[in-house]
Order: sequence, then structure tokens, then C-alpha cells
Amino acid sequence: MTPTLKPDTTLAFVGGGNMARSIIGGLISSDWPADRILVSDPSGSQRDFLQTQFNVSCFADNCQCVETADIVILAVKPQRLKQALDSIRNPLIARRPLLISIAAGIRSTTIAHWVGGALPIVRVMPNTPALVNCGVSGLMANPLASDQQKRDSEQIMRAVGEVVWVNSDEDIDTVTGISGSGPAYFFKLMESMVQAGIDHGLDGPTARILALQTALGAARLALDSEHGPAELRRQVTSPGGTTEAAIRTMENLNIDAAFSSGINAAIVKSDDLAKTLGEM
Ligand SMILES: NC(=O)c1ccc[n+]([C@@H]2O[C@H](COP(=O)([O-])OP(=O)(O)OC[C@H]3O[C@@H](n4cnc5c(N)ncnc54)[C@H](OP(=O)(O)O)[C@@H]3O)[C@@H](O)[C@H]2O)c1
Repeated sequence: MTPTLKPDTTLAFVGGGNMARSIIGGLISSDWPADRILVSDPSGSQRDFLQTQFNVSCFADNCQCVETADIVILAVKPQRLKQALDSIRNPLIARRPLLISIAAGIRSTTIAHWVGGALPIVRVMPNTPALVNCGVSGLMANPLASDQQKRDSEQIMRAVGEVVWVNSDEDIDTVTGISGSGPAYFFKLMESMVQAGIDHGLDGPTARILALQTALGAARLALDSEHGPAELRRQVTSPGGTTEAAIRTMENLNIDAAFSSGINAAIVKSDDLAKTLGEM
């Protein structure tokens, strides 16, 4: 999709914590005008930080923040979302902005129910590498979101990384299992590799840089390559060599089943959490 956010679009963030801060930082570095970004947060120190760092307008009052907004980005913790929506229901119903929710586990249908009016909603599942502009977000839109609003949402999330579209809240559970929780899978792998290096006599910092730089390099290589991960693995696995010995041992221990069952557990948990949070 081509970027189409008009420069006079006003974005209001409800919640000015880590994720909002990353997205705002990404937007400002892609030349989004600071005077078109408004943020509300109960914490004075959070507001001072955002004001000083990015020169955006900050509010203690959520209503004041969203009343002129074309797009409202809901960036509070999931447990606080209902309360936050309660506080802005009147301006939302009056102005009908696009709502973009990055709150994990709250379905678009639950948001619509909590607002109590028909509003365009885009639900986003980002991941923590967004904090270093290297995230990937899964997006889904409800039927009221226009193509323009979908393009705008995509442009906003591209400020902190890659973007993919999926079709339903159920798909967002899958995104959660793959990329939302995914950084932890790679951290777990790095942890094992660092520990193996130490167990075999390397010092900690040496083992760490070997494991982490390998993870970064493998991801870059895979992203740049025309081949998929399976082919890239085959290419570095010479018959009778060291990599083959490692991969064969891991496969004998059922590494594929461990990953697939783990990811399935995350997807099931995401669905469970969505049901529990939706009943708040
Ligand atoms: N961080 C991630 O990597 C990540 C990844 C995927 C999804 N998400 C989602 O992104 C959302 C934000 O996460 P985060 O890590 O940025 O959380 P965070 O750092 O805790 O930021 C949330 C901010 O919202 C403020 N807040 C609480 N209640 C509010 C209200 N009623 N109105 C306005 N602001 C309110 C909080 O203030 P107090 O601290 O004073 O309560 C806090 O400053 C969450 O829903 C999370 O599920 C985050």
C-alpha cells in the first residue's frame, strides 16, 4: 500500500508508555509533524518526557486529547482499555475517528461493544522489536474501516517495522503465537547457544556475541535471500559435516514438535485471554 496519511491528520495516543513512545519516535523520524500528535497519560513524568523528547502535546485528560483527533491509537495495557474507552466514549461517538488498538488480546468486536457505537477499528498486534524500529505487526480491520483508513493504519505501524494484514481476530491469535510471542522463542534459542558456549569453555561475553550476531546475521541473510529458510539450512548443511550432526541430533529430539506445540499453546492461550478480557 502507498503512504497516504494527509499531513493535517491529527493522531491522538491514549496511553503514552513504551509502545506509544516507539511509534511516536518512528513517526517523528519519518517527518510526521509533532504538532499533529497528541498524547494522554495519567503520569506527569511520562507526559514531561514525551513533551521534551518529541515536542508533542500531552494531556492528563483523555477526552481533551481525542476530541480533535482523526485517528485514536489505543496504547494502554489490555486491563485498562475498558476504563480508557469509557473515558472517551462521548468524543468518539460524536467524531467517529478511526480507532487503532494495539492492546494485546482485546478483540475488535469487544472494543466495538465497549464503545457502544459503530466505529472503524483496526486491531494491531505489534512485537517488542518495535522498540528498536525492527518490529513486525499483524493488522486486521473491522468492516467499517475504509481502504484509506487501512492505508493510514499501515503507514503508522510501518514507523516501527514491517506490517502484514490478516483477516480476523482469530488470525491475530495466530500472529500473537508467531511474532507477538516470537521474540521470546529466539531469546530462548540464544540463551541455549550462549550457555553451550560457556559449557564448552568460552567466557560469557564471547559466547554472547557469537550467539547474538549469528541470530542477527541469519535473519538478515534469510530476509535478503530469494530462498526460504529450509533451503538456506540445506545450503549450509554439508553431508557428514558439523551442522548436519547438530541438526540431526535436534531433529531426533523432536525440535519441530517442540516448536509447533509451543506455538500452538501460545495461540490457544491468546484465544483464552481474549475471552477472559472480553468479559471484563
Ligand atoms: N510493549 C510491547 O512490546 C507490546 C507488544 C505487543 C502489544 N503491546 C500492547 O501495547 C499496549 C501498551 O503496552 P506498553 O508496553 O506501551 O504499556 P505501558 O508502557 O504500561 O504504557 C501504557 C501507558 O498507559 C497509561 N495508562 C493507564 N491507564 C490509562 C488510561 N485510562 N488512559 C490513558 N493512559 C493510561 C499508563 O500509565 P500508568 O503506568 O500510570 O498506568 C502507561 O503510561 C498494551 O496493550 C500491550 O498489550 C505491547
